[in-house]
Amino acid sequence: MSDPAQRAAELREQLHYHNYRYYTLDDPVISDAEYDQLLAELQALEEQHPELITPDSPTQRVGAPPRTELGTVQHSLPMMSLQSLFTDDELARFDENCREAAGGGVAYLGEPKFDGLAVELVYINGVLEVAATRGDGITGEDVTENVRTIKQVPLRLRGAAPPRLEVRGEVYMRLGDFEALNQRREAAGEPLFANPRNAAAGSLRQLDSAITAQRPLAIFCYDVGLTDGLTFATQEEMLAALRGWGFPVNDLARLCEGLEGCRAYHAELGEKRDSLPYEIDGVVFKVNDRRLQEELGARSRSPRWAVAYKFPPRQATTVIERIVPSVGRTGAITPTAYLRPVRVGGVTVSRATLHNQDEIDRKDIREGDTVIIQRAGDVIPQVVKVIPEHRPPDSAPYRLPQTCPVCGTPTVREEGDAVLRCPSVDCPAQIEGRLEHYASRGALDIEGLGEKWAAILTREGLVRHVYDLYSLTKEQLVALERMGDKSAENLLAAIERTKQTTLARFLYGLGILHVGAVVAETLAQAFGDIRKLMEASLEELTQVPGIGPEIAASVHGFFRAPQNREVVERLLAAGVNPQPPAQVPASAGPGPLTGKTFVLTGTLEGFTRDQATAEITARGGKVTGSVSKKTDYVIAGADPGSKLTKAQELGVPVLDENAFRALLAESGLGTPAQPGLDL
Ligand code: IVH
Repeated sequence: MSDPAQRAAELREQLHYHNYRYYTLDDPVISDAEYDQLLAELQALEEQHPELITPDSPTQRVGAPPRTELGTVQHSLPMMSLQSLFTDDELARFDENCREAAGGGVAYLGEPKFDGLAVELVYINGVLEVAATRGDGITGEDVTENVRTIKQVPLRLRGAAPPRLEVRGEVYMRLGDFEALNQRREAAGEPLFANPRNAAAGSLRQLDSAITAQRPLAIFCYDVGLTDGLTFATQEEMLAALRGWGFPVNDLARLCEGLEGCRAYHAELGEKRDSLPYEIDGVVFKVNDRRLQEELGARSRSPRWAVAYKFPPRQATTVIERIVPSVGRTGAITPTAYLRPVRVGGVTVSRATLHNQDEIDRKDIREGDTVIIQRAGDVIPQVVKVIPEHRPPDSAPYRLPQTCPVCGTPTVREEGDAVLRCPSVDCPAQIEGRLEHYASRGALDIEGLGEKWAAILTREGLVRHVYDLYSLTKEQLVALERMGDKSAENLLAAIERTKQTTLARFLYGLGILHVGAVVAETLAQAFGDIRKLMEASLEELTQVPGIGPEIAASVHGFFRAPQNREVVERLLAAGVNPQPPAQVPASAGPGPLTGKTFVLTGTLEGFTRDQATAEITARGGKVTGSVSKKTDYVIAGADPGSKLTKAQELGVPVLDENAFRALLAESGLGTPAQPGLDL
């Protein structure tokens, strides 16, 4: 087992990534249950070792940070979350606490826990002014234009309203609408939403509200924020007021007397659950008396006067017909159980994820087994357990394959890693993800080549290996839908520019397991040359400060695979020329760039802006954004902007790319490009 600090760091990184997939991209790659497991592991670690808690740990906040592109909105009152309860005993404790504060029996307002996403609607003088998601509870995203497209949301309130009124509710998608939307997406070859909640979230958080308008979103309102002095004696009264203003309020909301009333309501809704046209995953109980609510107050993130009493996950029994390993975009090989189709909570299920070999071994899951499966908020369910009595006599334990099912490369599983992987940079199953990574900003930084074009280029068969990028032609590109002349030229130019890159970016771009940007930089500093790194022994790698045995093994293993070596060779042959990092020699005195201030304008051919900046700062200079009398040099590339005019006005020396290159060479660190190369 790795040490706790390292494990905590790993967990934090994974959770940040999955938060991003879930909240920002609305495209989770693991189930909610797997996510909860990771979070629980981190929480347990942090409980044992409180010194490991970092301010940015995913355990330290309620939700994910808002996506910046949408703009943000500060909530005037925090939007809290609800404590989840799972048993009658927990509910009894909640009731006891409320009764203690009340000094007698308590009435609760019970309502469904809708499975969507919370929003706040702000009305100024009765008119919808702003709508925001919950975000992290303090700051949400501005989704005003998108919310306006939801027909159920009143744009103007009926009757008299306070000058400022904040209303909270849940945006969701009805089951029938969700299925129809996914059918349309499937027909259009678009990725499917995992569940109605993700569909609602993805639709609401669109940057283009015209897209939201086509999505069948609905809302139930259940709470108020600031009400400008207007008060309500009870939750019930508040819901009646919301109805009066024209908000949709769920009609299953019911007053429940004491613990018994709550239990009966929970049981009743549990039975109704499958026949409702929308997903609910539990019941919310709120102290009805608003004065008592105030008295009970709140913990840091959730009120003491309300709870979510969750339903147990929905289960069913079926048979595993086959187990099929598939290779994901990152090379992870995951086994999927293909099931005899079965209805679980209104949805037909025909597949379940088995996660990895350990999970299969732990539960001893085999082909032909009869199993209990459960859906816990996701459409793809999990196998809970095998029913051994129904096991066919000839069954055998299941083992994941020793070679990649797609490309045949021997699979690897590192110590301490649950996941089996295909390590080939050239595996067809991974090419889309590898290409996207190669082109990403921290790697080769190919402007214009993001997720969308990585998908198109690979699916159209234009890029089967990363190095195919360098033989793309304009004719091939313009033949693609939505790729005009100018975009094709821009993309080719962007690809061409990556030929001058740094070794660190190149290494990072290869997507070697455990080699992030920082490790890539460390390796680049230590070896300075890609071929030296390719030939490095395990021992040499392990000796590099900052390179632990896990990373060393991964890098070493990567370069032992002939497919990976071939990819590197072909990239080099295509003209990619990774440069060693600029090292300031210990003996170096001040050079011509030391202490000088530079401004960059226009497009340089041989450098991205980041690269030029790195070259300057490595030589003791600095780069600023605007030209003044203090500027020493302006470096002007193609299509320079007003900075060039300003430099000329102020008499600041202007260097073109060649002069800049010569100046860099004078500094004693060598030129960043090979002599004779036409930049
Ligand atoms: S009341 C302090 N009522 O559950 C009161 N929330 O875990 C908090 N939710 O962010 C909200 N149905 O997205 C409330 N009937 C309901 C709800 C509900 C679903 C969600 C909501 C909230 C989360 C809290």
